[in-house]
Amino acid sequence: MREEILIIHENEVLLVSGPASVRRFEGEVYCLGRKITDYPVIVRKGRVLPFETPKYASVKILLSDEAYYEFQNENIGCKIWENDVKKYVEKFGNEINKILILGSTDSGKTTLTSYLSNLAVEKRLKVGIIDGDVGQSDLTPPAFIGSKVITEGIFDLRDLIADNIYPIGIINVANFEKYIIKGIIDSLKYVKDVDLIIINTDGYVDNGGIEYKLNLAKEVNPDLIFITSGEKLSKAFLEKFGNKVEILKPPSGINKSKIIRIARREMQYSRYLVTAEKSTVNINEVKVGFLGMKFSPFGTGEYSMRLIDSFEELIIFDSSMNKLGITSKAMEKMFVGIEKEGKIKGFGIIDYIYQDKLRMRTTLKPPFETLWFTSIKVTDSGERKIKVTLI
Ligand SMILES: Nc1ncnc2c1ncn2[C@@H]1O[C@H](COP(=O)(O)OP(=O)(O)OP(=O)(O)O)[C@@H](O)[C@H]1O
Ligand SMILES: [Mg+2]
Repeated sequence: MREEILIIHENEVLLVSGPASVRRFEGEVYCLGRKITDYPVIVRKGRVLPFETPKYASVKILLSDEAYYEFQNENIGCKIWENDVKKYVEKFGNEINKILILGSTDSGKTTLTSYLSNLAVEKRLKVGIIDGDVGQSDLTPPAFIGSKVITEGIFDLRDLIADNIYPIGIINVANFEKYIIKGIIDSLKYVKDVDLIIINTDGYVDNGGIEYKLNLAKEVNPDLIFITSGEKLSKAFLEKFGNKVEILKPPSGINKSKIIRIARREMQYSRYLVTAEKSTVNINEVKVGFLGMKFSPFGTGEYSMRLIDSFEELIIFDSSMNKLGITSKAMEKMFVGIEKEGKIKGFGIIDYIYQDKLRMRTTLKPPFETLWFTSIKVTDSGERKIKVTLI
């Protein structure tokens, strides 16, 4: 741990990579459009936060051994968006009630979501955030869509606890687009009575990703679409949605490595399992779910699940028959969402399956109504994906 006092000038941005904490020392300091007070801002591990000032300021920062900071002058911080965003801010809550955020991976979508939320909250608006990025989820663990209503400023979406959690089950969007769209539309129900809804999305914007985002926008019907990057995406959206689209500058020089992305996901799984304990459930006594649909293990009802025999770890969804097939091997170490009283209230990892019993680790106590499957295993050596076949 080391402490330093740093001076920030008008035309520079201080970038702090966590774990660290930053406190105002003198002058006006902003982080993601929110003014920082003498209360410290926590920069989590794997996260970089920008600190800016309109004039001159200084901050006191406490850095862990892994943390570092740097100053940059160009194309970074929220100033890069300020002018393009400002003209809309006065319309927030009246003409503009729903914003869709699109852009490729690492283009600043999550940062922009926080920035816009802070600008709206500053105007005393109530903001509903829908985190539709199942690969790099902030409000929930990966593979789920979280929604949250806020009335106070934020520095990190990961500090919030979602009001509602919609189960998807996969983290790679291609081929599952329609389930994500359905999940985002469903999540809109939980951000009612707000002045502004902000919908963040995943970074899949090439090839099929464009078509998917166009369909999503058609369904969501936003008043404004911010695009943080992606030439083809921008072109397609300007053609279809014209005056609703604002193309923003992407921040420069940012490149989360694949390793950091996985590490950030793993932190999100473990965050929900800190106090997990062992529980056993009978597979015949719970429903299971996947892609937002519930399956009954007995084969009754509209949707049914059966255990399949295969040496592979496999989940098969036959959409025309509404049938889910899964191997018990696939379930071992699977990360699951747990529904009680009609809501996802927590998460768990299935340890192993013995006959019709599932032994799991979770922070919740049985009885469980529905176990929401995912295609992710969380093992001692990290995240692993389970093969999912759609037929
Ligand atoms: N305007 C900005 N100024 C400084 N840093 C930024 C800015 N925008 C993003 N960053 C940093 O760049 C990284 C990626 O940003 P962010 O997570 O917002 O992008 P994203 O598009 O949501 O990425 P993902 O595809 O992983 O969800 C983060 O470490 C973030 O702190
Ligand atoms: Mg993001």
